[in-house]
Amino acid sequence: MRDQWNSKLAFILAAIGSAVGLGNLWRFPYIAATNGGGAFIFPYLFAILTAGIPILILEYTLGKTYRSGAPGTFARINRKFEALGWFQVAISFLITVYYFAIVVWVLCYIGYSFTLAWGDDSTTFFVSDVLQATSSADGTGGINGHLVIPFLVVWAIVAFIMYRGINKGIDIACKICLPILLLCTIIIVIRGITLPGAIDGLAYMFTPDWSAIAQPGVWVAAYGQVFFSLSIAFAIMISYSSYLPKDEDVVNTAFLTACCNHGFEIFAGIGIFSIIGYMAYAQGCGVEDVAAAGVGLAFMVFPTAISTLPALNTLFGVLFFVSLFTAGLTSLISIIQAVITGIQDKWEMSHNKATTVVLIPAFIISFIFITKSGLDYLDFADYIANSFGIVLAGVIELLLIGWFFKPEKIRQVANLTSNFNIGQWWTWCLKIVTIVVLGYTFVINMAGFLKEGYGGYPMWIGWVCIAFLVIVAIVFAAVKGKPGFYQKPDDAPGYED
Ligand code: ALA
Repeated sequence: MRDQWNSKLAFILAAIGSAVGLGNLWRFPYIAATNGGGAFIFPYLFAILTAGIPILILEYTLGKTYRSGAPGTFARINRKFEALGWFQVAISFLITVYYFAIVVWVLCYIGYSFTLAWGDDSTTFFVSDVLQATSSADGTGGINGHLVIPFLVVWAIVAFIMYRGINKGIDIACKICLPILLLCTIIIVIRGITLPGAIDGLAYMFTPDWSAIAQPGVWVAAYGQVFFSLSIAFAIMISYSSYLPKDEDVVNTAFLTACCNHGFEIFAGIGIFSIIGYMAYAQGCGVEDVAAAGVGLAFMVFPTAISTLPALNTLFGVLFFVSLFTAGLTSLISIIQAVITGIQDKWEMSHNKATTVVLIPAFIISFIFITKSGLDYLDFADYIANSFGIVLAGVIELLLIGWFFKPEKIRQVANLTSNFNIGQWWTWCLKIVTIVVLGYTFVINMAGFLKEGYGGYPMWIGWVCIAFLVIVAIVFAAVKGKPGFYQKPDDAPGYED
């Protein structure tokens, strides 16, 4: 008997917990900042409306109708589609292993906040003391000893939640973490917007620089961010919705999830850009200089901002890193669950066995990201997972469902339980708009990547990540699963219908 969410609220909170994550607090600000600030907002909103919400409706409906994780869902539609499901699961696995490392850093920073341990130079502290960073060009540099204990602590928490399953583990974790996250974020935003210089940070975030819009990279980054942030196109939402009763209305839940996620992202972004503006004011430099810190923004720029606050620095530091921790934890467990569901369904394993099969390799591989070159690997893996993996998985998902399987069938199923009808616009967004914009920008962006690489890192890191995604997709789809895995529920639309 397949697990089922205890209540609709449990599913909604888990879905919001998955969506609201480091993507909102850690990733969105630096992706927006490094892609033209305000210029980024237009492709981002466009991507939410034409791709984010329609794909969320699609994935929720697929999951609850075919009642399996991404590989099982696609296999039940057409056996030839199964590899896409495994490609998505592989992306989740890749994200899992580096996401861990960020949650580990965050945990360390909760501790550092009590003494403001980063002192006057938070960049040097992060790079030299916390990460003990060496360049990936010189090998891994070995494991960074003092991250090992926090790493084991995070693993223990996550394993505890995962073994307890969706209702006793994930549901309870979300019910504890989300209110804490919301409260901390509200305090951060109020403090942020009342600081001197905040207005300059906000102006940077919201003033469009239209010239950046012509760059394909900005569009890919916007779509990548929306997909990452909404947890779509990498198996998560299909996995979560596969535990819903089949008569559940998922259309309104999709709108609710998207509104909460992006509302929270922009709300938190207001707080974060206000603080960036304050930093620029305090240091007498431009907002863009402060915002350009990339993946290290939350760890290099924020600690300094926390130290320079006029009062209550420790409290503010703890609040900021606790909010990152709670957001990261509820997303991390959803990313792992996407992998567990895929494995469990294909080989009809017990929950505990599937959890062990996933956690052991993830545990071993995630050590790479706490080596001294971990930051380089992480930055590159994040780029490949998002700008290559998720975007490509999204395009292929839409091509297969939009053009090789009639999306109208899915729309009818969604409308059966929805309290308002989704119209033809939905089909056209998926079939045409998203495929054209995303497909075009993806190709151009990939061409740039092949020519110039990424961030000056050794290219082999990217190739290893890409090879991992492709090989998992091919091999796992080729291996035979239990017969029940391929059996679509009687009421789910079939390929030939
Ligand atoms: N949706 C998750 C996040 O934003 C993965 O971090």
